[in-house]
Amino acid sequence: MTAPTPFLRDHLDGALALFEAEGWQTYTADPERTLRALTAPGCTTLVAVDGDDVAGLVQVHSDGEIQAHLSLLLVGERWRGSGLGRSLLAEAAARAGGIRLDLLTRAGGYYESLGARSIPGYRLDLPISASES
Ligand SMILES: CC(C)(COP(=O)(O)OP(=O)(O)OC[C@H]1O[C@@H](n2cnc3c(N)ncnc32)[C@H](O)[C@@H]1OP(=O)(O)O)[C@@H](O)C(=O)NCCC(=O)NCCS
Repeated sequence: MTAPTPFLRDHLDGALALFEAEGWQTYTADPERTLRALTAPGCTTLVAVDGDDVAGLVQVHSDGEIQAHLSLLLVGERWRGSGLGRSLLAEAAARAGGIRLDLLTRAGGYYESLGARSIPGYRLDLPISASES
């Protein structure tokens, strides 16, 4: 298993396999769009690689000083429970910078185990209509 390393185009198929296994259709629907998302400027996207497989990946957006957001954290089922998620998250947050990291998740217990506290959050689907209907 490699240490967390920046995501490259060569990792796309392995990343798509993880998204597929998790049923994350937003990321599997259009692989080229996913590639653009995972290589977008201003993002820190890291992978851990095991042989030919991507074992896990993480993406953090940050202003580099204050505010960071976790966009995705995913570890393949067979690599779970050995600290990979924590190590990907810690490395991406350190590289991205900032003093706090916000996230939306259905796995709240995981982040609470890392010290996160729950505060209310929302998600808006885009685009936002400019006028009231
Ligand atoms: C959540 C996830 C990233 C954790 O990856 P991981 O490499 O297994 O995490 P770590 O090895 O750092 O930590 C494992 C610990 O977290 C715990 N854990 C994992 N998911 C949890 C959850 N939803 N609630 C509470 N604890 C959880 C495990 O039980 C384990 O505890 P232990 O160390 O006491 O045995 C991984 O399970 C995953 O990708 N899940 C599916 C995708 C997902 O939910 N991503 C987060 C959405 S933002």
